[in-house]
Amino acid sequence: MMEDDAVWASLPVPALLLDEDDNIVAINPAAEGFLNTSSKSINGQKVWEKVMIDSPLEDAFERARKTSSPLFVNDVDVGTGERAPLHCNLQIAPMAGQPGHMMFLISPRELAGRLTQDHTVKSAAKSAIGMAEMLAHEIKNPLAGITGAAQLLSMNLSAQDQELTDLIVAESRRIVKLLEQVEQFGNLTLPDMRPVNIHDVLDRARRSALLGFGAQMKIIEDYDPSLPMALGDPDQLLQVVLNLLKNASEAAGSAGGTIRLHTFFEHSFRLRRSDGEGRALPLQIEIIDDGPGLPPDIAGDIFDPFVSGRENGTGLGLALVSKIMSDHDGWISVTSVPGKTVFRLSLPMVKPKKAKSATAKSAKAKSSKES
Ligand SMILES: Nc1ncnc2c1ncn2[C@@H]1O[C@H](COP(=O)(O)OP(=O)(O)O)[C@@H](O)[C@H]1O
Ligand SMILES: [Mg+2]
Repeated sequence: MMEDDAVWASLPVPALLLDEDDNIVAINPAAEGFLNTSSKSINGQKVWEKVMIDSPLEDAFERARKTSSPLFVNDVDVGTGERAPLHCNLQIAPMAGQPGHMMFLISPRELAGRLTQDHTVKSAAKSAIGMAEMLAHEIKNPLAGITGAAQLLSMNLSAQDQELTDLIVAESRRIVKLLEQVEQFGNLTLPDMRPVNIHDVLDRARRSALLGFGAQMKIIEDYDPSLPMALGDPDQLLQVVLNLLKNASEAAGSAGGTIRLHTFFEHSFRLRRSDGEGRALPLQIEIIDDGPGLPPDIAGDIFDPFVSGRENGTGLGLALVSKIMSDHDGWISVTSVPGKTVFRLSLPMVKPKKAKSATAKSAKAKSSKES
């Protein structure tokens, strides 16, 4: 039984145990948090008075109890009477060995979404990158020596043997390229935050893509002209957009495809942090391509360093993007199906200056108050 208690207490989702009359018999610590109550004070009360669900599921619930079968309900609003209802999935299952008793699990979808969408660079990834930076530095010098020696050697070799030294040189170059990307992380300073016109950044990225790696692509501008200035580091944001355009172009391949740059304002977009503080990120930039979509086997890990779905990929492009976005206190998310992949960047806006509406008089009044 000891073990059962531990399992119950460790369940990371709110769980309630109900008797045959829908009275609450026990709740786990996660449920205490969710319902903002203690096990002691809630036990014995009717579940439907404490947990409000916006869809009529009593019938289905009774059926599940009668037939001793589990019941899954997705996407319902669950309220507690005290705070705004949360979007949840419910899992309801008959309790083995206790006829009529039901176990009731509530998974807030918001939590599920956050957990899988949290692409800020995790600490494990951070230390992997730190290690790689050190190695990159250490490997570059000897590698230059190896390349140089191979080039010297090749001068006195037959054509056949030269193929081998060419291989050494070519592969060394590839390694140097990889190392340079790793070093980009090390060189990344904290963003120099200032007002940025996102459309300027997108234009620069678009032009440079069309001249280089994205020459086979069509890049459409779909801008909200009234978008306010963002708060960010223009050079770093350019890097972010370039990396995303590059990936989209590479996914499309030589046949080409279409990328849409979509900007819009979403007033209600907030990033909730673990400390409970919210931060408004109303500026939205979507980079949408019509390519094959993320490879399903790596789709959940693409923001991690060294995860790549391409033959010659380094898996560092999106890791850098994610680092920059997290340094900006911004947000990145992705949705992808074949034919439509959307990377969305969410950024803070520059606070509108109050001075504009303030008259000289009130400005004076304010300054005298301050002095
Ligand atoms: N727009 C996209 N369409 C399809 N797959 C993508 C797209 N963007 C990224 N990916 C996938 O994510 C992987 C990781 O991207 P990235 O971190 O830039 O590394 P790399 O480009 O070096 O492979 C890519 O290899 C690719 O498989
Ligand atoms: Mg890339």
